[in-house]
Amino acid sequence: MNSGFIPIVDLRSLNKAPAVPANLESAKGFLSDALGRPLQDLRISVTDRCNFRCVYCMPKEVFGPDYRYLPHSNVLSFEEITRIAKIFVEHGVRKIRLTGGEPLLRKNIERLVEMLSALTLPDGQALDLALITNGSLLAQKAQALKNAGLKRVTVSLDALDDPTFRSMNDVDFPVADVLRGIDAAHQAGLGQIKINMVVKKGMNDHQILPMARHFKATPFVLRFIEFMDVGTSNGWKMDDVISSAEVIRRINADMPLEEIEPNYRGETAERWRYRDGSGEIGVISSVTKAFCGDCTRARLSTEGRLITCLFASRGHDLRALLRSEKSDAEISTAVAHVWRARTDRYSELRAKNTADMAQTERRIEMSYIGG
Ligand code: GTP
Ligand code: 5AD
Ligand code: SF4
Ligand code: SF4
Repeated sequence: MNSGFIPIVDLRSLNKAPAVPANLESAKGFLSDALGRPLQDLRISVTDRCNFRCVYCMPKEVFGPDYRYLPHSNVLSFEEITRIAKIFVEHGVRKIRLTGGEPLLRKNIERLVEMLSALTLPDGQALDLALITNGSLLAQKAQALKNAGLKRVTVSLDALDDPTFRSMNDVDFPVADVLRGIDAAHQAGLGQIKINMVVKKGMNDHQILPMARHFKATPFVLRFIEFMDVGTSNGWKMDDVISSAEVIRRINADMPLEEIEPNYRGETAERWRYRDGSGEIGVISSVTKAFCGDCTRARLSTEGRLITCLFASRGHDLRALLRSEKSDAEISTAVAHVWRARTDRYSELRAKNTADMAQTERRIEMSYIGG
């Protein structure tokens, strides 16, 4: 099956180290790309492995027992991650999100959190350090993560109904354990916890209302994500997408909503609140309403590729620089040049040409770079 696409292992080799210019520059705490978008967020994937097989992300037919994950020697060490993160922070990154695969599968992840939480921004403010998880290990890890300096977690949860949840994660994982993890994270004081639900038509759209009801009037902000054409493994088709407008329509019919202002420029989610004052929800419309215009996000893959768009088909090999004799100033200058040249705006372009792009591009998988 899936004979039409090149395995990810091959895609992963399509990366070159960025050139190190002769004229070194010092970071100024601000870096703008070719479309005027500042570098503000860094998403770091700490493992390409996951204990779930979500049908829209790591389908079993592709990520089966023979799938070749990255060997340990190819994966960035905590010291390498922290060194590169410091360079990004000096260029203006204010938010770091740890992702995967499933980041809590990385051994001693608390130690990395501790190392990153020691970084300070050029203006002396604290770094916003967050993590996105499937929640399966959260009950046991929440307190240790908080103690290590983690500020916030976002938990992916696609259904409340146990059989639906088990069939979406495709490893028969019970929903009750994830709900326990969310509570543990709340008890540990892990900030304003967001719950991400990817909506796939015919699979879990009957869970939109139960999820909304469950999280209404709780400290948690539920966000509905349009099923995206990330990677090439998930068999994406436009017909499987439930638009954010439809999600809002369905909830509003039952629990009236009104739109509210974004928290910050470039926020992925549009915010809506219940008219009865019992909290808010979000919708992330990367298919029907692209938000590339304000995209301030860089991604660092598990093996140290700098990826300037979620839909890129290659990255810039920073690990090659980290493992050479290059100085921080040289790596920092190379990163600055990559960001300044950035013109990515995949979702906007896809909106103009949906069918062709989804079928012909060969892209990096979500499990390799995280959300
Ligand atoms: P906060 O820091 O809590 O505001 O996080 P966030 O909303 O920026 O991040 P989160 O990781 O929760 O992102 C939510 C979802 O939005 C991801 O899981 C992706 O599905 C989608 N998403 C995030 N960033 C991008 C992006 O740059 N492009 C596209 N197309 N989708 C994105
Ligand atoms: N479309 C939308 N969101 C996705 N995620 C993974 N794959 C997709 C996809 N194809 C989400 C997960 C999680 C985050 C890491 O990315 O549900 O919230
Ligand atoms: Fe794992 Fe998250 Fe992908 Fe599901 S969406 S397979 S939990 S990385
Ligand atoms: Fe950013 Fe690429 Fe997503 Fe557009 S498609 S918002 S440029 S990551």
